[in-house]
Amino acid sequence: MSATLQPIPDQGGPAQSLLTVKDLIKEFPLKGSLLGRSPGRVQAVSGVSFDVLKGETLGIVGESGCGKSTTSRLIMALTQPTAGEILFDGQTVGSRALPLKEYRRQVQMVFQDSYSSLNPRMTIEELIAFGPRVHGVDQPTATKAAHELLSNVGLNPDQFGCRYPHELSGGQRQRINIARALALRPRLLILDEPVSALDKSVQAQVLNLLVDLKTEYGLSYLFISHDLNVVQHMSDRVLVMYMGRVVEIGPVDSIYTSAAHPYTAALLASRPSTDPDLRRTEPPLMGDPPNPINPPSGCHFRTRCKYAEPICAKSPPAMNALGQGHHAACLMAGQSNGHSQSLGLSSAPLVSIAA
Ligand SMILES: Nc1ncnc2c1ncn2[C@@H]1O[C@H](COP(=O)(O)OP(=O)(O)OP(=O)(O)O)[C@@H](O)[C@H]1O
Ligand SMILES: [Mg+2]
Repeated sequence: MSATLQPIPDQGGPAQSLLTVKDLIKEFPLKGSLLGRSPGRVQAVSGVSFDVLKGETLGIVGESGCGKSTTSRLIMALTQPTAGEILFDGQTVGSRALPLKEYRRQVQMVFQDSYSSLNPRMTIEELIAFGPRVHGVDQPTATKAAHELLSNVGLNPDQFGCRYPHELSGGQRQRINIARALALRPRLLILDEPVSALDKSVQAQVLNLLVDLKTEYGLSYLFISHDLNVVQHMSDRVLVMYMGRVVEIGPVDSIYTSAAHPYTAALLASRPSTDPDLRRTEPPLMGDPPNPINPPSGCHFRTRCKYAEPICAKSPPAMNALGQGHHAACLMAGQSNGHSQSLGLSSAPLVSIAA
């Protein structure tokens, strides 16, 4: 009888990042041409670098189209990067030390759409056992492990094991997707809008389940969501993306109480408030994002930024360190760089907790 799958052991120790993404670029060619001219390309991800530390949840936020899902597809090796490098536990993905097949099992993904990712002709226990079966685990062992996983995601195996996906609710299907991802005993789970399609009460249950499973299975999470409240609740650190670039990253409290990038500040200010006295009348974020085919020079956000000055058009701002792992790609977060507010910002955050 073959054994159940076990997680691949830690290589580099607790101080070694689990995932390191370095200068990742992904360009998509545009279809068709205009008057015989080259059709051009869209840079969906433009030089993104970050780490996911062992045991942490890194939240990713940003408007629709900023490159969150493209980044996760690149990490999952579902699409080839135009440039850049991905390391997992210190080893280059796709190298001899870490071949793609071995890497793929360690990183699993749960998507928003719980239905389309489940084969409608397979029973729940077959769906969960499928991955381990492909990895050589025999049928009885894989089915037994599937039943254990069903219990661990809060579904009675005797009741649900033989059902089909269409017989389940959205929340139950998302629990199946989580169980299916865990069946391969990954170390990193990428959660791309995992609860966005669910009702608020069901959302809370699935989020609590994710928190429990993280400890139980020793996981790290990359958690993508439009919902800033959910990201705040789930994350240890938060990364903010704008038009394919990382504009701010830092510990969750630091980002939510002292955002240093005007885009982050605007995103946070746009959260709906339940207090009528705090409801705003003017939108904090003006206009739509610029056309990604032809982004503004320098800082991509400058066309919507009330602090923009001519210097902001010159070159993409570097990531400025603000202490305690908080970094922002804004001239106002740096020193003596030609922006009139470049020195004052560290003492005056754009968002204060009282705002
Ligand atoms: N296969 C593709 N071909 C061409 N362009 C693409 C492709 N996939 C994504 N894009 C473009 O890349 C950019 C980033 O898209 P992506 O789906 O990563 O954004 P997102 O942040 O996940 O958005 P959302 O919040 O809506 O899910 C967008 O401009 C999108 O149109
Ligand atoms: Mg997306």
